[in-house]
Amino acid sequence: MLIKKKKSFNFKESLVTEEKYYLNRRKLIKGLGSLLIFPSFTPSILSKNINYDITSREPTKFEVLTKYNNYFEFGTSKEIWKASQKLNTENWKISVTGGKYSGKEISLDSVIKNFQLEERIYKFRCVEAWSMIVPWYGFQLSELLKFLEPETDTKYISFKTFFDPEVAFNQKQTWYPWPYQEIITLEEANNPLAFIATGLYGKKLPNQNGAPIRLVLPWKYGFKSIKSIVKIEFLKEREKSFWETIAPKEYGFWANVNPKVPHRRWSQEFEKDIGTGKKYPTKIFNGYEKWVSYLYKGVDSNSLFF
Ligand code: MTE
Repeated sequence: MLIKKKKSFNFKESLVTEEKYYLNRRKLIKGLGSLLIFPSFTPSILSKNINYDITSREPTKFEVLTKYNNYFEFGTSKEIWKASQKLNTENWKISVTGGKYSGKEISLDSVIKNFQLEERIYKFRCVEAWSMIVPWYGFQLSELLKFLEPETDTKYISFKTFFDPEVAFNQKQTWYPWPYQEIITLEEANNPLAFIATGLYGKKLPNQNGAPIRLVLPWKYGFKSIKSIVKIEFLKEREKSFWETIAPKEYGFWANVNPKVPHRRWSQEFEKDIGTGKKYPTKIFNGYEKWVSYLYKGVDSNSLFF
């Protein structure tokens, strides 16, 4: 398979963007309609984000995004940000099973160099009925797949988080099926919305948000967006994910956002913005229907959650 090498890009300190600048720039971008008309007006690193920016809601403030987290390895409360600082994210390695790099460990730094980093403002909807607007940066998952060259008969991709109970104290709870694992189909992984985040708000991804590398699948409930990935496996058969193993009737494989299918213990019709506290009606596929519905043709929309 041909590897299309793109110019690598790293955010320079001087470009680290302040929240206010983000908000103003987003307004400008939305106002312009298309950046192609005035490409020189806006830094090229920022030029790709408008395509999937579906919401008029303001990006959730940095302090909120980084102080209200789900990261069960570090505890079950939303205040895990301090505990998560114990994870050392330097010289991060990812082991691969299947494809060109099968049996090898690849260094994150050397892989990232192959991709052009871009910003994506996505709405992120948790199964717990809260949501947030996140200016991620990173690269499309499909780019990583091209690089890793899975076998042609690959059907599923599994992602795993680290397992180190000395660092993440909640991993001492042996009844959880650690390590955290998520699985998606190859077709889903190749959808242009599927994103690998290495940062947010123009800064390196904070530990509590999944540093140094996490998955972001905006049309699915947030639990599919696995943090701190250390293993990628190309599979022919579907395996059970972390949450499917714990509670299969509550956290299914597809986990596509669907307001019509309630969670067993609460409704999914509305969501609360964690920044403003405002409530909004939840949309099918979290509002990304036009880009992803083809993936689920023939699947009963009432069963999309599972
Ligand atoms: N990834 C790992 N490894 N461990 C987790 O507990 N929680 C998931 C997902 N990824 C989780 C994870 C859930 S339930 C949500 S809602 C999001 O991360 C939360 O992402 P955030 O903390 O950046 O908002």
